[in-house]
Amino acid sequence: MIDRRTLLAGAASLALPASAQAAPGLKEIAASKGLVFGCAAATYEFGNGDFAPTLLRDAAQLVPEYEMKRDVLEPRPGRYDFSALDRLSGFARRNGLSFRGTPLVWWHSNPPWLAPALQARRDDRLMTGPIAALLKRYSMASVDVVNEAVAEDGNGLRPSVWLDAFGPGYIEMAFHAARQAAPGTRLVYNDYGCEWGSGDRIRAAHLKLLDGLLKRNAPVDALGLQGHLWAFRDRTDQRKLRDFLQAVRDRGLAVLVTELDVDDTGGPADIATRDRAVADEARRFLDVALDNPATQAVIAWNLSDRYVDAPQDWKLKLLNWRYRKTLYDAQMRRKPLWDAVARAFAGARARY
Ligand code: G3I
Repeated sequence: MIDRRTLLAGAASLALPASAQAAPGLKEIAASKGLVFGCAAATYEFGNGDFAPTLLRDAAQLVPEYEMKRDVLEPRPGRYDFSALDRLSGFARRNGLSFRGTPLVWWHSNPPWLAPALQARRDDRLMTGPIAALLKRYSMASVDVVNEAVAEDGNGLRPSVWLDAFGPGYIEMAFHAARQAAPGTRLVYNDYGCEWGSGDRIRAAHLKLLDGLLKRNAPVDALGLQGHLWAFRDRTDQRKLRDFLQAVRDRGLAVLVTELDVDDTGGPADIATRDRAVADEARRFLDVALDNPATQAVIAWNLSDRYVDAPQDWKLKLLNWRYRKTLYDAQMRRKPLWDAVARAFAGARARY
C-alpha cells in the first residue's frame, strides 16, 4: 500500500521532467554555503532567447564582459557612453542580481586619446574622473579597481599609460578615489597567474604589491584571482595555491575568483575527454580556493562556449577548434564543468 506522502511525491516527480523540476542552480548551491556565484555577460549575448533564463538560473551576480572598458565608456574625452552598461546593470537590478564592475583602471582597452592626454598633462582626474563617474552611477557589490598591474613574468609592475603618467603610486591613487566615491563597495585588486603551477614569481610579486599597498593604507579589500585555468598545461599546484591563499588571508584580505574559465588548448580532439579535463582542473582549483574562508565568490567568465573567441593559432583554426572553456556548450547544454563547480560549492565549508 503506497502512503499518501509517497503518492504525492511520486505524482510531483511524474508531473515534470527532471530537467524542468526546480533543481537548484549554482547560485542556490553557492548561497547554501554563504558564497556568491556570478557570471560575466555581454549585451550581445542576450540576443539569444536561451541566454537570460540560463543566466538567471545560475547567477546571483552579473559582471560586464567588456561594456565597462574605458574604450567603450569614454570614446571621446569626457563624453561617457553608459548605454551598454546601463542595459546590463538594469537587467541585473530588474532580476535581483548584484552587480560587480571590471575594470576601473587597466593597461588595456583604453581609448586612443588617453595616452596623449596623459603625456600632455599628468592630471590625475584623467584616472579618478571615470572612477567617480562609474561608482556614483552604479551600485556595485565589488569592483576591480586596478586590473593586471603586475608584470606578466612577475618582475615588477606591468608597463602601462598609468605607470608612465603617475608612477607606481597610480595604484593607491585609484583605490583611494574608489573608496571616496563608493565607501560600501568591496575594492579589489585583480590579476592572473597566481593560480598557475608555474606562478611562483607572480605569487611573490602579488604579496609584495599587496604588502606595499596595505603598509601605505591603500583601501584594498580583496584580491581578485581571475581564474583563467589550463586543463592540459601549467595546472594548479594545490599546495602552492593553498599556501598563497593563506598568506592573502593572513593579510586580512578577502579573495574573489573573478573570471573562471578553463582553456583546453593542448587537449585531444575528443570532446568528452576535454570536457572531463576542464571539469577536473576547475575542481582541483576550486576545492583549494573554497577551502579558504577568505574566498567569498566565484565568477565565471562567460556562461557558454557560444561566444568564446576562436583560437588565434592557425593550426587550431585549420582544425576548426572551438574552446570548451565554460559551463555550457554553444547549444546552451550543461557540461561537466557545471557539475564540477556545483560539487565544489556543495563540498565547501559554510561561511556563516
Ligand atoms: O561588441 C562589439 C561589436 O559590436 C563590434 O563590432 C566589435 C568590433 O570592435 O567589437 C565588439 O566588442 C568587443 C568585445 O570584446 C565583445 O566581443 C571588443 O572589440 C573587444 O575588445 C572586447 O574584448 C574583451 C577584452 O576583455 C578587452 O576588453 C573581451 O570581450 C573580454 O572577454 C576580455 O576580458 C578580459 C578581462 O577584462 C580581463 N582579464 C582577461 C579577460 C579575457 O581577456
